[in-house]
Amino acid sequence: MRELDHAGDESSSPADKTLFGKYEVGRLLGYGAFAKVYHARDVHTERSVAIKAINKQRIIKGGLTANVKREISIMRRLRHPHIVRLLEVLANKKKIFFVLEYAKGGELFAKVAKSRFSEDLSRRYFQQLISAVGYCHSRGVYHRDLKPENLLLDENWNLKVTDFGLSAVTDQIRPDGLLHTLCGTPAYVAPEILLKKGYDGAKVDIWSCGIILFVLNSGYLPFNDPNLMVMYKKICSGDFRVPRWTSPDLKRLLSRLLDTNPATRITVDEIINDPWFRVGFKEVKFHHDYLELKDDDDDDEDENSRGSDGSFASGDNLKIMNAFDIISFSLGYKLSGLFDDREDGERFLSKEPPEKIIETVVAVAEGEGLTVVTKKEWCVKVVGGSKCNFAMAVELKRLTEELVVVEVRTRESEVGPSNRVWKDKIRPGLNCLVYKTGPAGCG
Ligand code: ADE
Repeated sequence: MRELDHAGDESSSPADKTLFGKYEVGRLLGYGAFAKVYHARDVHTERSVAIKAINKQRIIKGGLTANVKREISIMRRLRHPHIVRLLEVLANKKKIFFVLEYAKGGELFAKVAKSRFSEDLSRRYFQQLISAVGYCHSRGVYHRDLKPENLLLDENWNLKVTDFGLSAVTDQIRPDGLLHTLCGTPAYVAPEILLKKGYDGAKVDIWSCGIILFVLNSGYLPFNDPNLMVMYKKICSGDFRVPRWTSPDLKRLLSRLLDTNPATRITVDEIINDPWFRVGFKEVKFHHDYLELKDDDDDDEDENSRGSDGSFASGDNLKIMNAFDIISFSLGYKLSGLFDDREDGERFLSKEPPEKIIETVVAVAEGEGLTVVTKKEWCVKVVGGSKCNFAMAVELKRLTEELVVVEVRTRESEVGPSNRVWKDKIRPGLNCLVYKTGPAGCG
């Protein structure tokens, strides 16, 4: 919790040892160059989660803001039994927190380090891996950094791939903020990356799957050397030897996976039809769009608390901002392009309590002769104007423990000098709510 306490002022306080009052953060599960993963428990549901904390500054420095937005939106939609789910994204001033499904069984490679797997067990995990990889590839999502740390096990000893869609965000940024592709061991990296050729994300993932399969079956790496340059050369030559216990069918498949030429390397479709692979393969059956369209259908205890955007809102509480909101806000506080053309509006930050924000909006609107049609703890809708041509919706979203985003959308059917209800009448009355560097009080 210490690290997270220092991560930002608003996400937790010494009295409240939770992150956003929602997650009790526990032990460190793992860490990379700039991201740390903690075990945490959802205080409402008692469900275990893993929280990956990333320094925002590094994302900004790495010029990865757009990548983060894109990757998160993709990850949120990935639902597959062998992929760790992204449950929500939170942020404070300094960090972004990815709340992930918790894989209780730990790293797969901790098991293989004890002793190599039988061919049948190797096949079972490889089938699960290819099922996850194929699912992502069919959606244009590539991992690009498949390696042992990203292969976890759940409580039933099934594989869970983590960081799909996140690797471009997390593992490619060095502490200096620069993008990198080659940090750590290149043992799982495809030759075309080492040779700095342009590369195809799908082919690169297949190569890494080949290395993983080799390790599962043999207990050691196909291309290895204490000297990195020698290891590079071995990878690029593609010269490897399978252990004597390897069946001819597996040997054939490994040679197709570890083909140094990406153009002739086996594809996911070909793997699925491979005779060694097919033994006992149970395809994960689902309709592609089913998972995306029925967004919340398979949720369990969180069903009622999940917003349509994948963020959580408990009952009538403020919606915690979703990834897009957080990033468009927290990376520069820039508001743009969020409303459609017919609507006007604004978003601003407020440090005032939500009740006070709602009461102020109501008072200002009623003072202008408008009618409140909906009023909740976190939203208010008003209509009216001289010709009943004005409508306004104000919605509050919690950004941090202290800060609330006030999102205002307005519609005026006739826009003219006598019809600027929002700009001339309402907006000035809300100035006192706006958090600037030193927030002005409402008096
Ligand atoms: N280590 C990294 N991510 C994890 C997760 N989702 N569950 C368990 N351990 C992890």
